[in-house]
Parts: sequence; structure tokens; C-alpha cells
Amino acid sequence: MDLAYKDDKQSPDLAVVGGGVIGLAIAWRAAQAGMKVTLFERGELGGEASNVAAGMLAPVAEASLAEQEILALGRQSAALWPEFARQLSASCGLDSSFQECGTLMVATDRDQAVALDREFVLRQSLSLPVQRLRPSQARQLEPGLAPSIHAALNIPGDHTVDPRALTAALSAAAADAGAKLASNTAVAGLLGSADAITGVTLASGEEVSAGAVVVAAGSWSGQLEGIPAQAKIPVRPVKGQILRLRDPAGPGLATRVLRTDEVYVVPRGDGRYVVGATMEELGFDTTVTAGAVYELLRAAAELLPGVWELELQEASAGLRPSTPDNAPVIGPSLVPGLHWATGHHRNGILLTPITADLLLAALQSGELADSASAFTAKRFASTVLA
Ligand code: FAD
Ligand code: GLY
Repeated sequence: MDLAYKDDKQSPDLAVVGGGVIGLAIAWRAAQAGMKVTLFERGELGGEASNVAAGMLAPVAEASLAEQEILALGRQSAALWPEFARQLSASCGLDSSFQECGTLMVATDRDQAVALDREFVLRQSLSLPVQRLRPSQARQLEPGLAPSIHAALNIPGDHTVDPRALTAALSAAAADAGAKLASNTAVAGLLGSADAITGVTLASGEEVSAGAVVVAAGSWSGQLEGIPAQAKIPVRPVKGQILRLRDPAGPGLATRVLRTDEVYVVPRGDGRYVVGATMEELGFDTTVTAGAVYELLRAAAELLPGVWELELQEASAGLRPSTPDNAPVIGPSLVPGLHWATGHHRNGILLTPITADLLLAALQSGELADSASAFTAKRFASTVLA
């Protein structure tokens, strides 16, 4: 257990519950802004969803007609990424492996080509940057693509970051900025009453007072004891199984993110590839199944046949923290002292910079910015009470 937070007798201004990318980014930004911050992580920093994520920054590829507010937030966050990555590595000397690689959406059969055409029309109607490519044009850009592909869309602005490198950099930057990072230290619940939250109670029984508490505990965010009824939010886990592969011959098999409606292949730029991912509603189960590994590899190799030759290094599963409308919950709750930063579902890595900015501004002003009102925690007040 890291007991560094105990050296300091003064209460923190901010207690952060959860050391995934969201909690770490908030801890970093808040400490940079001069707040006294303590972050509590029950396991290893970045050991849950943030450890398995592929790291696509894909607001345009993952755009949907029904989720235009998430699209707008994702595009704002994508625009912040280059400067966020630059500041992060300047702060701590570690690189988050942000890569401006672009993305191709590909159809590997006739049915997928029809569906891909609808995706193109949707993106065009929303004025998103996307180009239609003939199969030969796509294969010119990515010669490893299967000769049998039917159609492709070029999305030049959807990039990637390596979430494991990001966690390491955020942890170092937050600590360098003065945040105390208490790993292997579980929070049991919130301290205070329905009128105000005043800190956290650790699983050890110790009480830690804090000026404000941010719950960034991913899929477990709703499980803390002592959340006042009017401040509760419905968060559930959505399981994703994902593979990590390596080309012993080095980089080059694919240089952009390649995705179909069944699978994505994310190049790390050094011969490593991430192939994902399933979407499963199975509660907190994180079993890796033979069927999922087979289906991911089959779909990936249909897109990029060279996948069959890669070394399979890791198969894992993680839990996407998800709300009923798939949108994140950011900022103050109905109870003074309690803030949320969770529910980032398929986009937590993409949304890391904007979440930290919005949360910090809300801590400073007491309110979530009007531009982000779709993501207020208050939208669930009546649902959970009913
Ligand atoms: P987590 O990383 O889960 O962190 C929450 C932390 O809180 C955990 O470390 C946990 O141990 C801790 N915690 C929980 N309870 C307590 C407690 N009581 N006390 C102390 N600590 C506690 N997003 C993208 O943007 N791009 C992608 O390409 C992408 N790919 C993905 C692929 C897969 C297979 C999966 C599963 C997710 C993917 N995501 C992606 C989504 C992304 O991983 C999540 O949205 C993001 O990691 C959520 O971060 P978080 O910090 O909220 O949660
Ligand atoms: N955004 C990719 C995933 O969640 O699998």
C-alpha cells in the first residue's frame, strides 16, 4: 500500500476515487491548478478498463445519429489531444504515444458495403471529414488489406494513443504536480450526509475529510456506500474482450486504424497491434472465451490477412463504465461536495482531456459549463429515485 497520503496531516481539497485515466487526468489537472489532491485506487493505477482499452480517438468513426451530443464532445476532446499529449510529456518526460495515424472504415463483403455507404451519407450530412475510397485506393494506402475488400471510407482525423503509456504518463505527471496517489487503497464509501459530502471512508475504516470528492471509479462508481439517493447514477459494466498481437518482422502491416462493423485493428507503430473488441452485457464477468478470441481473429484476418502470421501476446477483457444513454456523467451532483466523472463507455480515452477540463472548471465555478449540460449528473436524479 502506498501510504504517502498519510504523511500529510492537512485534509485534501479534493479526494478522487479511482485511478483509471479519468481519475488520474483530473488529479493531474487539479494539482497543476494548485489544489491539494489525494487519489485513492483500490488496485494498481490504470489496472481496469484503462489497461485494456485500444486507444482509438475515434469520434468520427464511432459517430451515430442518435448520439450527436457525444459526437460533439468527442470532437472537442479530439481537438484537445495534440496539446494535451504535448503538455503531458513536457510535465513528466513520458510519452503517451499519441499518433496521428488516421483511420479507414472498410467493408469486406457486399452487405457491409451497403451499410458502409449509409455510414458515409450520415457523416456527410453531419459535415464530418470523411472521403469515400475505391478498394484500389484503400489498398494503395494500406497494401496489407485483403484484395477482396468491397469499399472503404477514409477518416483522416481519427487517431490513437496507447492507454498503458497514457496511464504511466498521467500517474507521473499527477505525482510531479503534487497529487498523492494512494494505490491499493480502496474507498468503502462517502462521508457526510444527504446535505453534503465531506470526504471518504476507506475500506480500512479510516475517514479522510476533503473539500470535494470526485467519483471516477469506472464501472464500480455506483457501488460506494453512502451515496445520497438524489445523487445516485446508474452505471453498469459493458464487457469488452480484446487481443494484443505483435509482428516479429516489425511495423508496416498496417499504419492506420482499420475497422469493419465486426472488428478493429489498431497499429501501435512499432509492430504491435490491438484487435478488438466484443460488446457484452454480462455484469462484472471478465472471462476471456475461446469463441471471442476466434471471432476477433477471424474478422481481423478477413480484413488484414497478415494477422494470421502475428504472435498472439495477450487476450484480456475489461469493463466499459456505461450509463443508460451511453453518455458520460461529469461534474457536480445534486449534493454539495460530490462530483462525478464516469460513464465514458467506449470513449473514455478519447474523452480524457475534455473530462479533466470540464471537471476542473466545475470545481472552480461550482457549475458544469452550459456547453456540456447534456452530461450533467442531475439528468438521472428522477430515474434513480423513481
Ligand atoms: P477505469 O479505467 O475502469 O478506472 C476506474 C478505477 O477505479 C479502477 O482502476 C478501479 O480499480 C477503481 N476503483 C473502483 N472502485 C474503487 C473503490 N471503491 N476505491 C478505489 N478505487 C476504486 N475508449 C476509447 O476512448 N478508445 C478506445 O479505443 C477504447 N477501447 C476500449 C476497448 C475495450 C475492450 C474496453 C473495455 C474499453 C475501451 N474504451 C476505449 C473505453 C475506455 O477504456 C473507458 O471508457 C475508460 O478507460 C474509463 O476510464 P475510467 O478511469 O473511468 O475507468
Ligand atoms: N471504442 C472501442 C471499444 O470500446 O471497444
